[in-house]
Amino acid sequence: MQVVQTIAECRAARKQVERLALVPTMGALHEGHIALIRHARNLEAFVAVSIFVNPTQFGPREDFTKYPRPIEEDLSKCRDAGADLVFNPPPGEMYGSDAKPILIDIPHLTDSLEGKHRPSHFRGVCQVVAKLLNIVQPSTAVFGLKDFQQFAVLRAMVELLDFPVEMVGHATIRETDGLAMSSRNAFLSPIERRRALAISRALFAAKEQYIEHGINQTSRLVATMKQILLPPASNALTADGDLGRVPVSIDYVAAVDAVTLSPVEVVREPTLLAIAARVGSTRLIDNVVIGEV
Ligand code: PAF
Repeated sequence: MQVVQTIAECRAARKQVERLALVPTMGALHEGHIALIRHARNLEAFVAVSIFVNPTQFGPREDFTKYPRPIEEDLSKCRDAGADLVFNPPPGEMYGSDAKPILIDIPHLTDSLEGKHRPSHFRGVCQVVAKLLNIVQPSTAVFGLKDFQQFAVLRAMVELLDFPVEMVGHATIRETDGLAMSSRNAFLSPIERRRALAISRALFAAKEQYIEHGINQTSRLVATMKQILLPPASNALTADGDLGRVPVSIDYVAAVDAVTLSPVEVVREPTLLAIAARVGSTRLIDNVVIGEV
C-alpha cells in the first residue's frame, strides 16, 4: 500500500492504473469504513482511500479541532482492508494558506435536515469532494449511507457538473445492538453510549409501526420517535438508574421523500426517516429508509 501526501504524488500513483475506486474519509476509521473499502475492492481492482479532516465542512462551534486523528491506526486498518493507495494530505496541500472561498450549492437538497442545522456544511463537503474527485479521478466512489443527505447532495453534484464517476452508496453498518457506527461514537461515555441507542431504536420502531401496523401518517411516526428519544421520566428506558440523567436534545426528527428530501405527510415509498440528536455533547445522526431507493 502506497501512502502519499501531495497532490502531485497522488496524481502520479493514479496514472499507474486504468480504473480505481475511491473511498473518501476523514479517518478515525471503524468497521463502517472498512466495509466501504471492502465493497470498493469488489467493484474495482485498485482501491484508494483519502484521509483528510476537512476544515471547510465544520462550523465555527463544531468539533473540528477535537475530531480524532489516529493516523497510524488508520493506515494499518486501510492496509488490512486491502487498500492500494492512501491519500493523506495536510490541510495546506488542499487549501494553501490563502484559499479563496468557492461555493457549490445545491439548495433544493441542502436546505433541509443537516443543511438547515449546519449552515455551509454541504458547501464544504462539496468543495472537498469535488477536489478529491479531480485529484484522484476515480471510476467509482463509495460513500456510507448513514450520511444519507450527503450522498444525495454529492450524487446530484456529480450529475449536475458531469463528473465521470459512478457514485455508490453503501448500507449503514451497525453495532450488534443497533447503534450506527460513527467516528463520533468514540466521544460517548459508556452511559451516553447506552442512551444513544434510543436513536436507532426510535428509527426501527417507527419503521415497524409502518410495516407491521400500516401507520402511514408521518406525524405519528415522528411522535413515536420523539417519545423514544425523550421518554417521560417514568418510562422503562430511563428506569435503570443513570440513563435518565444523560441530557439528550433533538436537532430534528424528520420524515422526508428519500429522493427529493422534501417533507411528506404520508409515507410514500421510498421515505427517509432521519434523526439528529445530541447525547451529552456529542451530535449523532442516523436514518432508515422505508422502501427501496
Ligand atoms: O463522510 C465523510 O467522512 C466526509 O464528509 C467526506 C465525504 C470524506 C468529505 O470530507
